[in-house]
Formats: sequence, structure tokens, C-alpha cells
Amino acid sequence: MKRSYKYILAGSLMLFLFDLTFSACTKDKVQPAVADTTCIDTISFANDVLPILENNCNSCHNATNPSGNYDLSTYTGVSQNPGKVLSSMLQDGSASSMPQGGDKLADSLIQKVSCWINQGALNN
Ligand code: HEC
Repeated sequence: MKRSYKYILAGSLMLFLFDLTFSACTKDKVQPAVADTTCIDTISFANDVLPILENNCNSCHNATNPSGNYDLSTYTGVSQNPGKVLSSMLQDGSASSMPQGGDKLADSLIQKVSCWINQGALNN
């Protein structure tokens, strides 16, 4: 009686370990190419989005020179068409590809803008 109990215990432990490794593997496989960690946190316009625009866009999109009529230096300007701003960064063909003459932004930065829009494009 005692012996078979041990076997059951060992068996369940092995099953448990197998399950752990197996689920770890399948988890790895379904991970997207870009780790989708940014949308877990609340994205702030002032702290996350605006710095991205300041570093990559505001030289051509500011109050005195709003190229294409986009002043991307304020919430008011960006919130007029956040979807278009994202499309231009994604370079998906539905808007002029941005930044003009420069490299496409890193996925992690574009993802932040995307999350911010999904969270309601708030002035936060
Ligand atoms: C070197 C200058 C320059 C930079 C840098 C730049 N833009 Fe532009 N952008 C322009 C010009 C010029 C236009 C208007 C002509 C056009 O649509 O191509 C424009 C147009 C746009 C439009 C309107 C597109 C449309 O199809 O109506 C959006 C949105 C935009 N830019 C977003 C951005 C974003 C976001 C960034 C930063 C990631 C950025 N731009 C960086 C020059 C720039």
C-alpha cells in the first residue's frame, strides 16, 4: 500500500514537471516577434508618446512648421488624427511613410503609440 502511494506521487510529480516544460515550450512558440509587454502598462501621452514625437517628428511637425498640417508637438495637434499618425509610422501605405527621409521607428516605439491609441488616446 505504501509503495504504490510512492509511485503515484512520483508519477504525478513527473507529470507536473512534464507539463511545466511542455507549457513553457508552447508558450515560447506562440510569443509574437515583438514582445507584447507595452500594452500591459498604461501608456502616458506626456511621458511616453510625446518624447517619441519630439525625437523623431517635431523637427518637421511643430507649431510654426506643421508639415502636412500636422503639429505633433502638442496633444491637441496629435489628437486630431492619431490613427493617421500611427499609420504613417507603421508605413502601411494608408498614409505617407514617416519619418520622411528617415528610418522606420523601432517596433517598441510604434507599439507604444499603438497602445496609447488603443487605451483611448488620452491626454494623460
Ligand atoms: C524631415 C521632415 C519630416 C519628419 C522628420 C517627419 N515628417 Fe511627417 N510629414 C512631412 C511632410 C513634408 C509631410 C507632408 C507631405 C506628405 O504627406 O508626405 C508630412 C506628413 C505627415 C503626415 C500626414 C500624412 C498623410 O498621408 O496625410 C503625418 C501623419 C505625419 N507626417 C506624421 C509624422 C510622424 C509621426 C513623424 C515622426 C515619426 C514624422 N511625420 C516625421 C515631413 C516630415
